[in-house]
Amino acid sequence: MRLLIVSNRAPVNVIVREGKIKIRGSAGGLATGVGSYIEKRRSEEEQNDLWAGWPGIVVDSSMKRGVEDLLLSKHGVWPVFLTEENIALYYEGMCNETIWPLFHYFPTYASYSENNWQEYKRVNELFCEAVIKKASPGDVIWVHDYHLMLLPALIRRRLPDAPIGFFLHIPFPSFEIFRLLPRRWRTEILEGLIGADLIGFHTQEYTQNFLRCVLKITGYEHSLGEIHYDGRVVKAETFPMGIDYKKYSSAANLAPIQKSYQSLKKNLEGVKVVLSIDRLDYTKGIASRLRSFKTFLEENPQWHEKVVLAMVVVPSRTRMGDYRRMKSEIDNLVGEINGRFGHLGWTPILYQYRFLPQNELVAHYLLGDVALITPKRDGMNLIAKEYLATRNDRSGALVLSEMAGAARELGEAILVNPGHIEEMSEAIAQALEMPVDEQVRRIGAMQERLQRYDIVRWAEDFLESLEKIKNTQNSLRAKLIGPEDRQKLLDDFRVAKSRLLALDYDGTLVPIDQTPELAQPTVATYDLLGKLARQPGTCVAVISGRDRETLDGWFGPMDVSLIAEHGAWIRNKGTEWKTVASITLEWKDAILPLLERYVDRLPGSFIEVKDYSLTWHYRRAETELSALRSMELMGDLIEYTANMNLKVLQGSKVIEVRHSSVDKGSALFNMVGDERYDFILAIGDDWTDEDLFSALPETAYTMRVGLATSLARFHLEKQDEVENLLSALTNLPFAENTSVTTG
Ligand code: G6P
Repeated sequence: MRLLIVSNRAPVNVIVREGKIKIRGSAGGLATGVGSYIEKRRSEEEQNDLWAGWPGIVVDSSMKRGVEDLLLSKHGVWPVFLTEENIALYYEGMCNETIWPLFHYFPTYASYSENNWQEYKRVNELFCEAVIKKASPGDVIWVHDYHLMLLPALIRRRLPDAPIGFFLHIPFPSFEIFRLLPRRWRTEILEGLIGADLIGFHTQEYTQNFLRCVLKITGYEHSLGEIHYDGRVVKAETFPMGIDYKKYSSAANLAPIQKSYQSLKKNLEGVKVVLSIDRLDYTKGIASRLRSFKTFLEENPQWHEKVVLAMVVVPSRTRMGDYRRMKSEIDNLVGEINGRFGHLGWTPILYQYRFLPQNELVAHYLLGDVALITPKRDGMNLIAKEYLATRNDRSGALVLSEMAGAARELGEAILVNPGHIEEMSEAIAQALEMPVDEQVRRIGAMQERLQRYDIVRWAEDFLESLEKIKNTQNSLRAKLIGPEDRQKLLDDFRVAKSRLLALDYDGTLVPIDQTPELAQPTVATYDLLGKLARQPGTCVAVISGRDRETLDGWFGPMDVSLIAEHGAWIRNKGTEWKTVASITLEWKDAILPLLERYVDRLPGSFIEVKDYSLTWHYRRAETELSALRSMELMGDLIEYTANMNLKVLQGSKVIEVRHSSVDKGSALFNMVGDERYDFILAIGDDWTDEDLFSALPETAYTMRVGLATSLARFHLEKQDEVENLLSALTNLPFAENTSVTTG
């Protein structure tokens, strides 16, 4: 299987110096993490994986070919070239001045420009073209990060069956933050993501936030992370990204790295090192970290001359105002602290502003007696994990922000609130003074976890889940009734002596409408049912959640059997209505006021009172509020009815409460009694019909309208296919001139 990775930034950056092309690794968790997985695949198998991304530079047309050839042949990278305008409006604008700050809970840094948004859409299309150009059948397409959130749906339009995964490397914010995006953008972003088959996040909280936004903004409900949408099942799931553990732990023993570590250490004999490494970014909390180190020095004079803060800041997004301002704030703070506490023999902060190649990075990890990693928000933070992996003797201490995704897995770190200077200063002292056996215990526990769920496990876990969801989709598709099964059904029907047709009403015999009153049977419905009922030896039963008056009014005079209120009322053809005798009804008086309260709280919702059930409909209400209210009502009802013999069911924009012994399956058995049928066809479109499917023998033709997980043997994609199938039954050769019989 070939992987086609797509991300804004390619894993390598191109630098042109004096007309010569040079290649350098990219910074950031995405490039490091996914990069080492791809490297591993390449080293282990004959792989021709491809990575499409921007090479970090505007290349003039004369050089494009050269860059393309070099990247493709040496690095497996298919460059997506961006223009200055793309970079200014899409990358710096929409990505880094809107999505980045907002998703990291910095709404005051976020700006909203329609121009930038349009450019974001254009560049996502550009990436789509690059993918289409390079994708071959069988490829798994894996799109990464916030720059390309529209891409999955764009690719889906062009390659409807391709397996497409998406992983977000930054936090997915809560609904309250996400809704700060203009209405149109937020819907398009969610629809864009849902174009993927699998959408992955670092933590459970981000996954929940996403699902909540999907529900409240688009109205699509989910069950255990599975969203049924447009005939497809899409899954949102949590995959905490790991690192290439072995690479880091074995690198620590390599001679060149040991050498570089020794030379760093030489100047720091007898001094403890607090290590801080980040990409330049306001989300990383570097200034607050410096302030906390200042407070630590103020409050702990005994540590003067015995500790240094080795701080590496990797340049990033340097053309942007917020980043430049932050850089000068950091420079000033370092100057101020060193000026105030330092002297000729001791510089408290050793500050480097540069990119660290891998070897030097590991040497720095070895140097750190304490790693101080305190981002204000961070999707995951792989630096913390890499630091831990290099500590082969299990010495060291990690001070970690509780706002980093990694904090969910690294509970043995000293967790701090990154906005609280005093707390961080105390944590530095605690880390420096931590007894060795405690260091070993804490680091050991974290190392074991990181070793188990490393970058390969992470990526394979994601890819396996993608395959699984593809299989689910395929098995649903495979259940769509094909020409052979359809023919067999018609043949079986034709030769059968006694036949039962159990047909749901709404969504099966007629399409779902805005309100129940609008979904009336048409002349064609009557005609069809009449013809079916006139087939020899055929019993037609309409099995619905509707009340009995309505069904009686519509179909009473016809030669069909009726089941109303999901089974509470039964009328065998030619007989009177009868009910399931022992059902108690006092519960209705208790539940009704609760539902009424929700009608007041959700304009547009209404209650349908039936003899044996109460139904709260909300299909006409505003989606965001109805999502919230329906969840609240479900919660209230489940709690309220815990000791009662009632079923609370949530269907398509409806919540229904009824007696637990009432269901369509038992009702059908009640109705048919001892009658034996040699042909049974049952068709329905929602969860209430599942009771019917499960009650019928395996030989029955059970059929669900729509592509949801179901017990039915077959699926029909759309409601109008029901009509088509049923009329085929009335047009079979024997049907001509048959007389009316009772089945
Ligand atoms: C974070 C993002 C990546 C991004 C990296 C570097 O890790 O999640 O998508 O590539 O930062 O940022 P840059 O803007 O330089 O690509």
